[in-house]
Amino acid sequence: MTAPGGAETGAKGDRRLAAAGATGEPLAGRAGQLMGEPDERGRFGSFGGGYVPEALVPACQELERAFRSAWADPAFKQRYRSILADYAGRPSPLTECHNLSKHLGVRVLLKREDLNHTGSHKINNVVGQGLLTLEMGKGRLIAETGAGQHGVATATAAALFGLECVVYMGEVDMARQELNVFRMRLLGAEVRAVRSGSRTLKDAVNEALRDWVASVSSTHYCVGSVMGPHPFPWMVREFQAVIGEEAREQCERLLGGAPDFVVACVGGGSNAAGTFSGFVGTGARLVGVEAAGGAALGPKGVPGVLHGMRSFLLQDEFGQILEAESISAGLDYPGVGPEHAHLAEVGRARYESATDAEVLEALQLLSRTEGIIPALEPAHALAWLVRATASGEVPAGSTVLLTMSGRGDKDAEHVMRLLGMRSK
Ligand SMILES: Cc1ncc(COP(=O)(O)O)c(C=O)c1O
Repeated sequence: MTAPGGAETGAKGDRRLAAAGATGEPLAGRAGQLMGEPDERGRFGSFGGGYVPEALVPACQELERAFRSAWADPAFKQRYRSILADYAGRPSPLTECHNLSKHLGVRVLLKREDLNHTGSHKINNVVGQGLLTLEMGKGRLIAETGAGQHGVATATAAALFGLECVVYMGEVDMARQELNVFRMRLLGAEVRAVRSGSRTLKDAVNEALRDWVASVSSTHYCVGSVMGPHPFPWMVREFQAVIGEEAREQCERLLGGAPDFVVACVGGGSNAAGTFSGFVGTGARLVGVEAAGGAALGPKGVPGVLHGMRSFLLQDEFGQILEAESISAGLDYPGVGPEHAHLAEVGRARYESATDAEVLEALQLLSRTEGIIPALEPAHALAWLVRATASGEVPAGSTVLLTMSGRGDKDAEHVMRLLGMRSK
């Protein structure tokens, strides 16, 4: 199989993306096409595609057919939306952070995905893919997970829809996110420890892909972000677009239009893609924030092929995939979803990073000013905002929408250890 790790040679050194900055201007004649459907080869510009072994080609094609037909079916959409409303708690609120705004000198609005059932935006995607699994007549769901949030969400959807569930998780992540491992087991899922490679998210994806090759007739692989082969990056973005649609309406009501900046953290990039899709046609500046140790769209990222997609990846000069390193399990991934690579290349979004130390500061700042303990992942978005307001990059008085993709409960113990705090 091309994945895991078939890095593209010859493209090394192409760092145009890192240099491309968002203009913040609507892209005349282009905005309408951005964040639409990928082309017939499943590509966003030159990124994406379907680099899968022969055995998975029919499964990807079947999935695309099922998704196209379901997404065009008002009854399917109604079922998806009513589960999100009655079970997951949507719409999520938009919270104006008065204290933090005063502190930073900009008007900060949080899109509260942390208030969803299971504690993050991941539920939006698994409800969609769970329903599709039923449509395809399959009885088994598999998933990879890093922070455990997508694993918990998948196990939840499996319980709700009566599906068997196996979640692959790196051993390192299992230790960091012990509580989520327990939650998945409580929900009836089997959690399989992955002991290969860096024993984190990348290796969990490899194992899930191996399982899928062997079980494709009965199993749907519920990919957790806007990554993997076509149609996953497009389909997952569509299931997460509810974040941007709601936020756009909420901003319209509160601000009378779009905010100046829209900021979200980027692991694979699903909460960011869902949020950006609501604002790509406006003048808002779109900013994705990666972990400094996993910034595929930063200076160490080069184009290559991994996990069925062509995108920017952390690689060495021989095309070997480098380990991502972050305190946040959900951002500990050496790649990024292909649509983000495209948005960066055309300059419609820009991608920044935040260090572990900045993230811990930001997490405490939001906790103390607003009484909201964020997950480590969205604390990256806030950490960038803190830096950018201090430097004037985000000018005083700007309006900023920031997606609070998850709540901090899952990280509390980990953060307690990192801060060297005791419980009493
Ligand atoms: C709370 C939270 N936010 C963000 C992410 C990163 O995922 P994505 O970039 O797909 O939104 C994760 C991943 O586990 C997460 O748990």
